[in-house]
Amino acid sequence: MKVWSVANQKGGVGKTTTAVTLGGWSAARGRRTLLLDMDPHGSLTTYFGYDADTLDKGVYTLFGTPAPDPAQLLQLIRDTREADLFVLPASTALATLDRQLGARDGMGLVVTRALHRLQGYFDQVIIDCPPMLGVLMVNALAACERLIIPVQTEFLAIKGLERMLHTLAMIEQARGLRVPRIIVPTMFDRRTRASIDSLRVIRDRFDEQLWSGVVPIDTQFREASRLGRPLGQLTPGARGAQAYAKLLQHLLAQRDAPQSTAVAS
Ligand SMILES: Nc1ncnc2c1ncn2[C@@H]1O[C@H](COP(=O)(O)OP(=O)(O)O)[C@@H](O)[C@H]1O
Ligand SMILES: [Mg+2]
Repeated sequence: MKVWSVANQKGGVGKTTTAVTLGGWSAARGRRTLLLDMDPHGSLTTYFGYDADTLDKGVYTLFGTPAPDPAQLLQLIRDTREADLFVLPASTALATLDRQLGARDGMGLVVTRALHRLQGYFDQVIIDCPPMLGVLMVNALAACERLIIPVQTEFLAIKGLERMLHTLAMIEQARGLRVPRIIVPTMFDRRTRASIDSLRVIRDRFDEQLWSGVVPIDTQFREASRLGRPLGQLTPGARGAQAYAKLLQHLLAQRDAPQSTAVAS
């Protein structure tokens, strides 16, 4: 079971779109794929037609269930319209976790432990992260073998990328782990100077962590989200969908880090 997290502290850079579209392609290959919505805003949950405001079970439940068995976990997981694609939804209660848990020890591995118990049920897990640093982000980083960082090809987004990498370095230092990462330029518009120039800056500055492709701007993503389907399932030939198919291909060809943390049963 591969576990990837999609994170960036900046909002609106394409995190949820990346999780949904990569997950869609992964499922389309017949790989049982679980999307974990760890953003209290619940955009991914909403994408698939569930309402984070009224759900009382989901990722939040994991934090109140110290040793869930697989049956309890599977109960939290919802279907989508796509074969082999499942969602563990967010609920708005997620937003209260940081206040409730504070700096309580041992809360950083809740998701890691839950996913260990789902080994064998899924081939791929993709975690959609919240845009802020806190117990959810720390859990997502600890649980994943690879981090996908979407960055919008515009100058303001580059600052956000620096902030994200800085946060990551801090967490890695505190936890003594190193998470392999890949930066994915998104919403690239080849007709605009800003896109071209910012892509060049990203390539100069972050070369060794950067995916060689780009996700182009594609208005069909909006239509796909309106219909609650991954773009690859809705319009496989769309440029945006094709970009994520290539990204998935690339990611599957990489060797992921071994699960970074030793987890007690
Ligand atoms: N490549 C793209 N081309 C056009 N629109 C996009 C693209 N990627 C994302 N979007 C749109 O941009 C908005 C923000 O994307 P989203 O994935 O929700 O970002 P985040 O999760 O980082 O906040 C959404 O309306 C989404 O449909
Ligand atoms: Mg999002």
